[in-house]
Amino acid sequence: MIRGNGKLLRALVPALAVALLTACTTPAAAPTGSPGGPPAGSPAGSPDMSPDISPAGSPGAGGEVEIFSWWTAGGEADGLVAMFGVFADTHPQYEIVNAAVAGGAGTNARAVLATRLQQNDPPESWQGHAGQELIGTYVAADKLESLNFLFDQEGWLDVMPELLIPQISQGEDIYSVPVNIHRANVLWYIPEKLTEWGVEAPATWADFITTADTLRAAGVSAPLAMGEQWTSMHLMETVLLGELGADAYAALWDGTGDWSSQEVADALETFATVIGYTNDDASTLSWDAAAQLVIDGDAAFTIMGDWVEGFFVSKDMDPAAGDFGWAPAPGSDGVFQWLSDSFVLPKGAGNRDGAIAWLTVAGSKEGQDAFNPVKGSIPARNDGDRSLYDAYLQSAMDDWSSNELAGSLAHGVVASDAWKAEIDTALGLFLSDLDVPAFQTALVDACASAGPCE
Ligand code: GAL
Repeated sequence: MIRGNGKLLRALVPALAVALLTACTTPAAAPTGSPGGPPAGSPAGSPDMSPDISPAGSPGAGGEVEIFSWWTAGGEADGLVAMFGVFADTHPQYEIVNAAVAGGAGTNARAVLATRLQQNDPPESWQGHAGQELIGTYVAADKLESLNFLFDQEGWLDVMPELLIPQISQGEDIYSVPVNIHRANVLWYIPEKLTEWGVEAPATWADFITTADTLRAAGVSAPLAMGEQWTSMHLMETVLLGELGADAYAALWDGTGDWSSQEVADALETFATVIGYTNDDASTLSWDAAAQLVIDGDAAFTIMGDWVEGFFVSKDMDPAAGDFGWAPAPGSDGVFQWLSDSFVLPKGAGNRDGAIAWLTVAGSKEGQDAFNPVKGSIPARNDGDRSLYDAYLQSAMDDWSSNELAGSLAHGVVASDAWKAEIDTALGLFLSDLDVPAFQTALVDACASAGPCE
């Protein structure tokens, strides 16, 4: 049985909760720029698979299993429900409590979660991004159980990409179950509309600016749809990637790059110019409301992760029929900017057996193949059934296995929460004054204080 948010009617107190999150966060160890990099925060090594805690309890156990996420929009919410369906079929003794808190990229949910963790009131499992978000926050704050026993029991090391394991590990311990891979650097559009306006998807940011001017002349006031602030961080990371290239982008996060360089200044100038082509009401829109502007022809493009494809499909749009189109974000052809949603086992879970049962489904082929075709992501496992995935998702599968990889900032891969929060504060100012030198100085300082720069 699945039910809604009943026991979770809590006031949203984001500012307080963010403060608490920061309070329970210790600075992350050296970040990793790509999934091929060293383990987040600890030396490499094959994880010790000996169980340090007992595996799932008696199969007859039941009760509520509260699953916490921020998947409430079209596509993402449907994917979650599809995975709940697999859970209900395979574990009928449990009752799922869907504790999703609305707000893209977890902006509200993570604040609520932080408050609950402060109060030692964790849900049975929550969605956390692989990478620095997981390791630098929840593992660092000692909130999670190691999942080595479950990886061992389920044989997941044989089916999960090797490059993902360091992103969910600290030392020899694995701390989450990746359920998918999302691509962040995607430009979305409606092909028919582009034809009507006489433009094509731009390949570079310079092309984008020319295209955007053409669109403006054709009466499209907002060539690029953007939403609330986290979506501008998402845009910023794709501009940095597209203008600097994958290696220089990765270097910004591992301490070998130079935030004060002319190249970064130029990329930030490009970002400022691009912001000038976005909708005036961006700060009031969710990511899906921004995508809706594209559907409605009020904007030509949006840059967003491929949860947008889940959203489009939830609107009965079919990629094979050309109802929507996609391209790598300008300047990033051949690069897959990735992130991974994953589920954790908290210390002190009220229904630990139920939590483990959930994780078993989240890591299973059946669970992932129910979830991802609807969510707009590809399975984290490398044995997903390709025939279940549509034309866009099949292209994402191909790119994930062949492209150069880069990690996402806005979705927890490359920077600790503390570092990301400093960048976000500077970004908030920048969005109001577009002062590139001041923004660059703040980014240099953020890397020095929270990140790995000396
Ligand atoms: C991301 C998350 C995605 C999707 C998106 C918008 O952070 O990884 O799964 O939910 O936010 O809500």
